Amino acid sequence: MKSEEIRQKFLDFFEKKGHKIVSSSPILSTDPTVLFTTAGMQQFKKYFLGEKSPFGKRTVSCQKCFRTSDIDEVGDGSHLTFLEMLGNFSFGDYFKKETIEWALEFLTKVCKIPSSKLWIGYFKGDKDVPEDKESCEIWQKSGIPKDRIYGFGREDNFWGPTGEEGPCGPTSEIHYDLTGKACPKGKDCRPNCDCGRFIEVWNLVFNEYYQDRNKKLTPLKQKGVDTGMGIERLAMVLQGKSSVFETDLFEPIIKEIEKQSSQPRAENPKAYRIIADHIKGAVFLASEGVIPSNLEQGYALRRILRRAIRFGKLLNLPKNFSIPAAQKITAIYQDIYLKVKAQETDVLTILQKEEEKFEKTLEKGLKEFEKRVFRRKPDKYGRIGVAYDQHILYGSDAFDLYQTYGFPPEFMREICKERDVQFDEEGFRQAIEKHQEISRAGAEKKFGGVGKGASIEAAKLHTATHLLHQALREVLGEHVKQMGSDITPQRLRFDFSHSAKLTEDELKKVEDLVNQKIKKDLVVKMEEMPYKEAIKSGALAFFKEKYPEKVSVYAINSWSREICAGPHVNHTGELGHFEITKEESSGAGTRRIRAVLK
Ligand code: ALA
Repeated sequence: MKSEEIRQKFLDFFEKKGHKIVSSSPILSTDPTVLFTTAGMQQFKKYFLGEKSPFGKRTVSCQKCFRTSDIDEVGDGSHLTFLEMLGNFSFGDYFKKETIEWALEFLTKVCKIPSSKLWIGYFKGDKDVPEDKESCEIWQKSGIPKDRIYGFGREDNFWGPTGEEGPCGPTSEIHYDLTGKACPKGKDCRPNCDCGRFIEVWNLVFNEYYQDRNKKLTPLKQKGVDTGMGIERLAMVLQGKSSVFETDLFEPIIKEIEKQSSQPRAENPKAYRIIADHIKGAVFLASEGVIPSNLEQGYALRRILRRAIRFGKLLNLPKNFSIPAAQKITAIYQDIYLKVKAQETDVLTILQKEEEKFEKTLEKGLKEFEKRVFRRKPDKYGRIGVAYDQHILYGSDAFDLYQTYGFPPEFMREICKERDVQFDEEGFRQAIEKHQEISRAGAEKKFGGVGKGASIEAAKLHTATHLLHQALREVLGEHVKQMGSDITPQRLRFDFSHSAKLTEDELKKVEDLVNQKIKKDLVVKMEEMPYKEAIKSGALAFFKEKYPEKVSVYAINSWSREICAGPHVNHTGELGHFEITKEESSGAGTRRIRAVLK
């Protein structure tokens, strides 16, 4: 079955079951708490929470998605940054029974997959959420034998929310058995085994809870269904391929790259796959108007494009190799996503320009890398020029490359690995920390010396800034994000994303909220953790800043959580009284507040 047919059959199948076909929303999400659309349910989030859906209670879609969370896994057989997600949704209408029965019907009757190939994972329960026995029973009644149904925990069978809060719930996942043979684990070889036997094709989410920013779950009044099936994986199964890259959604792109390379794909399949995936993601982002930059969506585009270009070098691809590949991508999708064709010229220009830009820094940066890793030292006669290979990229050198040539850490790890050079993780972390200390010292200098009094004042204003940030989000909305911050001994200054001038009433509410939190004398707690974990835990981050792997998260009670280098006070009561002195515009869509502590 061709991918076009799969897409259409899915939409038709659910249309017949009373679902309204809704077209894909853009990848550039309208949800301010996430950068991209990563799942089909995102455009429907509010209908899960009870708002009336203009499409009725049942919808079906094929959604463009983009995720950078799996970027390191791209290159295996099934992970991607750009994918299309097929999904059916119910907002307070049908629930587990229909969802499971229809999923089975679609796969076995429409797609003609033998049901003996399907294995099921369901939520086995934990201390907060009970076991999903109901789903387990429905699966059995639908004809899946018990020995192909397994319970799993939160990591595998609980989904959501997207962004900082939202609907979520236990899931049932349908896995396809690719080989029919157990690995040496024998009976324990089951879905989620890492041997490659199974591929997860369809995730059925039963939205029963609302998770707030503090990770607290409350049962939803209205239950909902959100399902997601990557079309690439289904195509892989239905076209009998061993990876998504051999399906008709990738093969023409890979062939185009192969045409330009002297190295056949069998010699470096991973490089081929990464290039094809990343250029596809880049084409879709650029077609929606994203331009490579060092910020947010623009940075994601830059990152995948530069990574594709670098892997292109490994395959000795000529300059501008991405152009014919991008044209193939346009050809695959032009009838489904009209923007891809309409924006083709702009997209190609963006690709070409970014390649030229990167070419310059990459060459210089790589030379610098070689120089630092393969140093020269005098020989025993004192003659310069005997090369020795120290096989290590020291943290301080890595930090220079990072700062001067914009080499992201993962990129340096990769080039080190390719060249059998050790990457000095610890040293790199220390170098970043040292850099932060220097900036902090700089800030302290501004406070008139490194005196203790000066740093206490700085700490107070830092904490006040966090309180202000959270208060703004509460009063104005979650779209409020830090755009800049500056502290002097006299005042704090905070820039944030918000388009309208704040009313007197809003200003007063913000001020009152901050003072209320000061009065409560809340504890300010610092915790160190990996950056990824911090973000997962709901901590706010400032996107303009490059963070080290390990960061400090400052939490004020459970009210505010932010990644920050500090310093901070221990109790909010130390702040005294908070007063906003000025509110003004600070560029398009950005407001600026100045405030003092008295
Ligand atoms: N929203 C679910 C997912 O993305 C279906 O896996």
